Amino acid sequence: MSDLTHGDVGNGNSPTSADARLSQEALPVGLLPREFEAEYLAGAVAPFVLSGQYVGEIPSLPMIDLSYSKQYAIEPHIWGLLYDGWEPNGDKDGIAVFIQGYEYRGPENARKRIYMSATTPDLIATKYHHKLTRFFDDLFANRNAGKPLMKRFYDTYFDMYWDLHLGVRGDAIPAEVRDFGSSFTAFLGYWYPTSEVVHEHYMRARRTRQPLQDWVDARVQDMIDGKVPNPDQTFVYYWLKNGGLGEDFRRKDIVFECFHNLLAFSQWGNTTYNVMARLVPDAGNKTVRSWFERTMTAGPDVSDGSAFTPLDRFVMELMRTISPNAGSASLPTRNQDLRGAQYTTVVTPHSATSEDPRHWTNPCEFDPDRYKNAPTTVDNDETKVRQIGLARCPFPRDSFAVKDGRDAHIENSAFGAAYATVEGQAFPLCDTAGYAPFGFGYRRCGGEYLTVEFIKELLRKAWRDGITFNKLDLDNPERRPVGPRTVIDDDIAFRPGA
Ligand code: HEM
Repeated sequence: MSDLTHGDVGNGNSPTSADARLSQEALPVGLLPREFEAEYLAGAVAPFVLSGQYVGEIPSLPMIDLSYSKQYAIEPHIWGLLYDGWEPNGDKDGIAVFIQGYEYRGPENARKRIYMSATTPDLIATKYHHKLTRFFDDLFANRNAGKPLMKRFYDTYFDMYWDLHLGVRGDAIPAEVRDFGSSFTAFLGYWYPTSEVVHEHYMRARRTRQPLQDWVDARVQDMIDGKVPNPDQTFVYYWLKNGGLGEDFRRKDIVFECFHNLLAFSQWGNTTYNVMARLVPDAGNKTVRSWFERTMTAGPDVSDGSAFTPLDRFVMELMRTISPNAGSASLPTRNQDLRGAQYTTVVTPHSATSEDPRHWTNPCEFDPDRYKNAPTTVDNDETKVRQIGLARCPFPRDSFAVKDGRDAHIENSAFGAAYATVEGQAFPLCDTAGYAPFGFGYRRCGGEYLTVEFIKELLRKAWRDGITFNKLDLDNPERRPVGPRTVIDDDIAFRPGA
């Protein structure tokens, strides 16, 4: 990769061998600003321009086969943000389950089950809920009325984030940790390493990552030493208890998850913006608004015999139709390719799968009632897979009992999707390929319950307070990165209720 350095670009004749000249000619030498350091060119830009991404098939079943690997399956220009050496080094520096192949996760997806022991519905209801409520109370405080909302969203977003992970907020979060968070989020939004804005945020994130990791590690130690107030209101508490600092969730993995989760959480910005946009009178979506009113008037949380409450179903349909996560990326098994395998990803598309007529009779309608009879993780068992013509479950069913004192288990459907059972009560997830926003099978989102609750809380707050959203008529709205490859005009405000 040294072909991209400024030395080569500057004098134009540094390579001496024919090979070196050839490889230099094959690469975009001299096309990028001189401020881009050699290591950035080699570590971020070159992998990006060499990379290829292909669209995978639309699944018929809610799973992705293991031949599409999850191990290190991420766009290659991201590595420099996560690891010092510009390439993955999970053994030494820790790894997130998000980029871990099934075969490396411990027995029956153990790592994922430990991860999810911290994000179960009972904890959301009793331990984390006030953190979400506080976030929306701040966001929709009267002082913010009439102002572009996404800027305000990010005023307290990192407080909520670190509070959920480590029980830390406000001044206790060092400036470097906040800097890393905003640079990481900006990088994700602007995405293209060939741009100056990405270069700036990327290198700032690299400078602040080590202080951030040291800080997180010290907070993990505080948790172990019993120095954190209300420790059971944090993810790390459950990862420590249920992983036992063993091989399937090492201390360095806990630290890694704590900052890698910025990627997962970054999608809350995009989702919030899109939900608000649909609820704007006139400019929004009439059908969505009418369903919202009906759902909230009739009783959002009533149990009506379906696996999901009316508000659950409404949020699920928002997720299916907004689909903030475009697709599930995998590294394909390679038969033939000259480039390194790490440069090729295949993406199983989410919107196209959610809207495939194989899966729904009315795929393009906004219809929360579709989930009244949709298959769930509880339904998809041995009998069900036989009915659809398979000889056995693609993923063996297992039940992980948490070790933190609760009577809770992380189970899985026949297709691998993990879900929680608490005190004998199952909390099903919709388990059909047609519901794709959170991905599929063993690698489906580990934060799905929390994300759905976050959006439910946004909607409850808006309804309770009579909030209306409005589009601002701004000449130059601020551009704001709100999720991977997504930068929006910050142009939605709210009016408080009477
Ligand atoms: C709008 C919000 C979110 C959306 C749309 C979303 C979507 C997804 C999708 C599609 C995947 C599967 C990726 C793949 O298979 O390649 C995934 C994985 C994952 N998500 Fe989320 N996510 C969201 C928020 C969160 C949050 C808040 C958390 C943490 C609390 C989280 C934790 C994870 C984890 C750990 C995985 C990896 C699971 C595995 O590989 O086993 N996500 N998410």
